[in-house]
Amino acid sequence: MSLGRLNHVGVATPSITASIAMYRDILGADAIGAPFDLPAQGVKVCFIDAPNTQIELIEPYDDSSPIAGFLARNPAGGQHHLCFEVADIHAAIADLTAKGARVLGMPRIGAHGTPIVFVHPRDMGGVLIELMETPAGH
Ligand code: CO
Repeated sequence: MSLGRLNHVGVATPSITASIAMYRDILGADAIGAPFDLPAQGVKVCFIDAPNTQIELIEPYDDSSPIAGFLARNPAGGQHHLCFEVADIHAAIADLTAKGARVLGMPRIGAHGTPIVFVHPRDMGGVLIELMETPAGH
């Protein structure tokens, strides 16, 4: 695989509404998407555009969501993952697996409508890495 652009930084939050207000009113974000549900992952998501990447705000609405566990350990929320683009998710999974990195589960459709997978933080220097197939037209 070849490392692509940083698509977004995932940030877990107990309140997307409060986080949107913080990014807008304190940090001056002016390109804030509408929050939407991602039922496969039990979360509500909202993307905030920065000039060179996005912030993905993630709020669980379901206690079975992995994000709920993260918030139990980090009640104020916090940085959750980094998402890099790859040209071909299946080729990336095969390459990572061959190199001994643990890919978590099968590819699923992520918040941008393209296949994603997560890679175990213990194999990624303590950082949860999301790989996302580059959206068409990018
Ligand atoms: Co993400």
